[in-house]
Amino acid sequence: MGTDDPVRLYYSRKTLDILHKYGPGPRVHFHLGLFPGGYRPPTNVPQDLLRRRITEAQEAIVEYAARSWGAYERPPRRLLDIGCGLGGGSLYWAQEHGAYVTGLTIAPEHIPIVREFAGRAGVSRQVVPILRDVHDLREQKAYDAAYANESSGYTDRARLFEVVAEALLPGGWFGIQEHFLCEPQWRGFIDRYYRTRLGTRKEYLSAAEAAGFELVRDEDVTDGVAEFWTQSTAWNTAELERLQAGGEAVGGWSRERLRESTRTQSRLLALWRDHAVETRLLCFRLRG
Ligand SMILES: C[S@@+](CC[C@H](N)C(=O)[O-])C[C@H]1O[C@@H](n2cnc3c(N)ncnc32)[C@H](O)[C@@H]1O
Repeated sequence: MGTDDPVRLYYSRKTLDILHKYGPGPRVHFHLGLFPGGYRPPTNVPQDLLRRRITEAQEAIVEYAARSWGAYERPPRRLLDIGCGLGGGSLYWAQEHGAYVTGLTIAPEHIPIVREFAGRAGVSRQVVPILRDVHDLREQKAYDAAYANESSGYTDRARLFEVVAEALLPGGWFGIQEHFLCEPQWRGFIDRYYRTRLGTRKEYLSAAEAAGFELVRDEDVTDGVAEFWTQSTAWNTAELERLQAGGEAVGGWSRERLRESTRTQSRLLALWRDHAVETRLLCFRLRG
């Protein structure tokens, strides 16, 4: 990972923006959230309510996945959070399930922020953020579980599953929240915007199989997360109105950026509604 790595630069520059839209923490997430059962709340509401809704939906999908993967019955003692971002997931696993979490990120700016949030949440001893590219992970039999929330889309999947298989104890599980391409013609549009290299479900399943994993859960949550784009776009509109009324721009949230984000997200909403891209929760178990 070089200092000029485009993904690293993207996240380094985005840190303040993420805090502004998805903060104030201590559990700050940067991933889609769940609006179950066709819930579509009105968007003509104060900006702070939109922000709260967005963050609650992010918490809801993390909690939903943990329940679905059996974490309440058998909480993982040691968990690897791959691509931990500002640490929302790491703190969740530490606070709600008592896990000892190692969080990996490629953005150096994330590290002190995760440490500070972990301190505020009272889990400093349980959450250790580390600056490391997951492709370079060399640990062996160190974790009961691994978790990758919207970070696997940045990886070489064959390598990802290989290093995670090495890092897990036998019988350990690997839970993934990710977007999967169903209509490959949209790859360029999404990958350019998020600097990802999204894959297909089939590609993940064969990489996992080759590394010794079996698929134990596979849930399509596309319809439940599509509303997130609507709420996120409404927050952008409210932020634009705040700037137009003389408010100060925060981080990279300029008027132009807000307009571009809104344009892109309304296209993304259509792709999610049409299932051209699907968001899924996958859980794999290491054989043996
Ligand atoms: C969309 S954010 C998700 C953050 C966090 N999982 C969450 O749900 O809030 C993607 C994260 O993946 C991390 N990431 C991207 N490529 C990575 C890599 N090769 N190794 C480790 N982390 C990586 C980025 O630093 C960023 O924190």
